[in-house]
Amino acid sequence: MHFPTRRMRRLRKTSQIRKILRETTLNAEDFIYPLFIKEDLEEGAGEHIDTMPGQYRYSLEDAVEEAKRLEKLGLQSVLLFGMPEEKDEMGTAAYADDGIVQQTVRRLKSETDLVVITDVCLCQYTTHGHCGIVENGEIINDESLRLLAKTALSHAEAGADIVAPSDMMDGRVEAIREMLDDGGFQDTLIMSYAAKYASSFYAPFRDAVCSAPSFGDRKTHQMNPANVEEALLEVELDLKEGADIIMIKPAMAYLDVIRAVKEEFRMPTAAYQVSGEYSMLRAGIEAEYLTTEAIYESLLSIKRAGADLIISHFVPDFLEGKLDEIC
Ligand code: PBG
Ligand code: ZN
Repeated sequence: MHFPTRRMRRLRKTSQIRKILRETTLNAEDFIYPLFIKEDLEEGAGEHIDTMPGQYRYSLEDAVEEAKRLEKLGLQSVLLFGMPEEKDEMGTAAYADDGIVQQTVRRLKSETDLVVITDVCLCQYTTHGHCGIVENGEIINDESLRLLAKTALSHAEAGADIVAPSDMMDGRVEAIREMLDDGGFQDTLIMSYAAKYASSFYAPFRDAVCSAPSFGDRKTHQMNPANVEEALLEVELDLKEGADIIMIKPAMAYLDVIRAVKEEFRMPTAAYQVSGEYSMLRAGIEAEYLTTEAIYESLLSIKRAGADLIISHFVPDFLEGKLDEIC
């Protein structure tokens, strides 16, 4: 009988050995926390998002408080999503000087040291719920660029460190870069949602911020979940147009895309663990089919795939030490 001389199990013998040999770690600076700020909300505990158990829509005041609380726990960075009081065809509230995101940016930049990132899109601000201007039932690419760039500029003027266009119109990174540069904001970074898929995992988010399209879908601009070659092309274009950080979204069902993009471009790469990924895990844990270790494992898998930054609704759980580290 032949016994193995090469024994992999030696490497896993005790939790201390496993700990010193682990290849991937999660740290507070890996994370970006998405915050939903609702304009007409009374100050108070926030509005619970039923499709995303444990997540809230905050008033401006409460969002600032929550950001400060998390900053004390080590949070480095937030991603802001606004919910305006009024919507219209052109998404005017998205690029208003005193819009809800613009106000929140000003407060966070003066009262915290957080890196403030803003989502740049029109879908929460338009009555039709599309990410651009609609004419005769179609989303008009080039007309939309001007408004998206205007939105990004207004965020930069408010003090945003990074603007993050999530609309997936063609040429928006270039349009934004140009308007930022012309406005004197050469140093404002762009994190582009470069490979953003037309995913069913966004459903809880659309409910959370009331941004579901009133007709049609987003398949003419967001990517086909079947494609990865195309993702590389999307990323290449965004980099050529001036993106500083590229993002893949969603994360868990697209780990191969994260890996491919990281290997091909070696650029700062972010991945977005979206609402559906969050709610799915939460539901499993609430039903006691899963434990919180599953959350930790999901975050680890995204980092291991190649993400330098992870946008996740689980950030408070991580910072509060509620996730059991797997060792
Ligand atoms: C659209 C946008 C989406 C998300 C954020 N901004 C996707 C969509 O509605 O198509 C999804 C975020 C999530 O599900 O967590 N600009
Ligand atoms: Zn949008």
